[in-house]
Amino acid sequence: MTMQNAAPGAARTVSVSRVDGRLKVTGGARYAADHLAERAAHGYLLLSTVARGTIRSMDVAAAERAPGVLAVYTPFRKLELQGGGNPFSVGHSWLPLQDAEVRYHGQAIGLVVAESFEQARDAAALVSADYDVRPPAASLPDGIAQATDPGRVNGEPSVLDLLAEGVGTIDEALAASEVTVSGTYTQPLKHHSAMEPHATVAVWQDDQLTLHNGTQSASLTLGTIAAALGVEPARVRVISPHVGGGFGNKIATWAHPLLAAAAARTLGRPVKIVLTREQTFTITGNRSAVQQTVTLGARRDGTLVAVKHQAYSSQSTSGGTFEASPHTTSRYLYRSENIHLDQKIVTLDIPPPTWMRAPGQESGSFALETALDELAVKLRMDPVALRLRNNATVYPGRNVPWSSKHLDECYRVGAQRFGWDRRDPAPRSVVRGEWLVGMGMATAVYPAERFPASVKVRFQADGDVAVSSATADLGTGMWTVLAVLGSEALGLPVARIRTDLGDSTLATNIGAFGSGATASTGPAVAVAAEAARTELITLAVTHERSPLHGVPAADVRYDRGDLVAPERRIGFAALLQAVGVTGVEATGSAAPGPEHGQHAFTSFGAHFCEVRVNRWTGEPRLTRITTVIDGGAIVNAKTARSQISGGVIFGIGQALLEGAQVEPATGRIANANLAEYLLPVNADVPPIDVHFLDHPDTLFNPLGARGIGEVGTVGVAAAIGNAIHHATGRRIRDLPITLDKLL
Ligand code: MOS
Repeated sequence: MTMQNAAPGAARTVSVSRVDGRLKVTGGARYAADHLAERAAHGYLLLSTVARGTIRSMDVAAAERAPGVLAVYTPFRKLELQGGGNPFSVGHSWLPLQDAEVRYHGQAIGLVVAESFEQARDAAALVSADYDVRPPAASLPDGIAQATDPGRVNGEPSVLDLLAEGVGTIDEALAASEVTVSGTYTQPLKHHSAMEPHATVAVWQDDQLTLHNGTQSASLTLGTIAAALGVEPARVRVISPHVGGGFGNKIATWAHPLLAAAAARTLGRPVKIVLTREQTFTITGNRSAVQQTVTLGARRDGTLVAVKHQAYSSQSTSGGTFEASPHTTSRYLYRSENIHLDQKIVTLDIPPPTWMRAPGQESGSFALETALDELAVKLRMDPVALRLRNNATVYPGRNVPWSSKHLDECYRVGAQRFGWDRRDPAPRSVVRGEWLVGMGMATAVYPAERFPASVKVRFQADGDVAVSSATADLGTGMWTVLAVLGSEALGLPVARIRTDLGDSTLATNIGAFGSGATASTGPAVAVAAEAARTELITLAVTHERSPLHGVPAADVRYDRGDLVAPERRIGFAALLQAVGVTGVEATGSAAPGPEHGQHAFTSFGAHFCEVRVNRWTGEPRLTRITTVIDGGAIVNAKTARSQISGGVIFGIGQALLEGAQVEPATGRIANANLAEYLLPVNADVPPIDVHFLDHPDTLFNPLGARGIGEVGTVGVAAAIGNAIHHATGRRIRDLPITLDKLL
């Protein structure tokens, strides 16, 4: 461990191992399903076996008689829930078991509660449902003829034209371009597949509900549960200190916590529901399947004059979100006189889409960054030079500057670290034995988000300082980031900071999503530390048993855990012991101010990769990846590197492996398991060289840190596809790029 304190906003070289690491590897970290409530009953969800229709009746008699069964709930024997849904609350537009409609295959239609998980599962197999079945629509290509306009995307019209004066349409601008390329890019529906399946344990005691529920936002979960159960928010507590991956799918409060909380209240016993891996694919959200067409017009020198980006994204009859590809990428990634965005949605009888790591950018960057590569090939121009030529310095159409943008440096540093100058531009020019070798690159982009957040800092009489907030750590490193920032704000070693998070009773915090957790919570640590130091000094000069009693407060200063007055110095622990209190605390808050509107805030990056494709089998393998990130100040290099590596690995899945197989006729996800829904394993992951530029963005926040949770995955699929084109001369525009497509 290296540790060097840095002033706020200054470049830093802190690299600390996870403070929760020992707990995680020894089983001491309690995830939602690890919570063992006394007398807990176990719930098992019943799922629809058709994709569209109405349930006429359900036969639950045999299940009710089965050993250990306590109750069987269905739309005909409801658990009462109130209100409706939306993407931020329950993830879809309806509440479970409140009506007999079936909107997709694998929807929750019942809950069996029994003494044990096995008894509940076995009884669930005895329930039968009788449906009025209607034929489902489950195929994106088949539904495109019925695509609709979602109206708005990210606050802007879903069809958006930014055209130069005198240009009537984007097609006119394209027709006037010296060079054009156009491609249609497709990718399947995908699932987050977090290592920790979704789980919940609901415990009622004296009209107070405690919910252990893996979540990215304890406060959103609390609000959703309180509204649906019709109880005061003050009577609900949500606890989620450790989360085994979220990727956007643990923002909404899906059916299982709603039903567990309602069943526990009705039965007067704690109820635990752990989704099976297969159930996670349909009870929780997914990333839309997307079909995009990108058409680029350029001058012969590579200057972009027209960018036309159209997308069809799958939506669900259940509501939810959708993958907004053009508005999150072509909207602002490159300078161009003419930009046209067109987002359409295709509503299908499939599980609801939700946010999934880099929602929009993941798919949008595959299309745009592949199209850029196609343009580079056509222009016979280096792909890095093409991007440098079109680097935007102001946000297109809004003409606000970026607070801090060093994308050009990402390209240059990345190219240098990777050895890009050794690349022969001709496709299929390098053969090593049975392998065709290629190099490709692409740009990464993700907006920097910042939300209001509060943190509590408490000096304890035992000599430690507690730093806590109701944020979440999804494996992202927030436990450690809070400790590092607490250590810096207080001038104490990391080992003396006790962090706590993932509990709705802690200082107010919206949680971890939008890559905004560190940028939101970090600045509040310094504010809270300052307020707590003031409290400490006030106590020291006013308490009659304090050795500093009577000293003017202005003569006392805080120095690395000590209070220093003329000719006297006392540690905070000694002070607290002397006056007989266990601690002194203060809460501090931070939020973006109105001046935030004057700049655009974005994290950027560049990926470079080398692939080899087997000449005889078409098998693509990755050799190495270099990723350079411009994410502002990096709070903790070690966990930051993990974030970016994780994002790159996520992108390897997108490029080469992942896709839900939705059967068009039945709407069933045929590979809803981790044996057939392929994810990258260690053998698929090459060495990843992650480098941070570390230019603090102090216009964004005093810490200078932007988000890095999502930017690392953006552009990876394009970089890999571009490298495969360079290796083989084959342009694969349909993800994942599997060996059959390369034969
Ligand atoms: Mo992220 S998709 O906002 O968790």
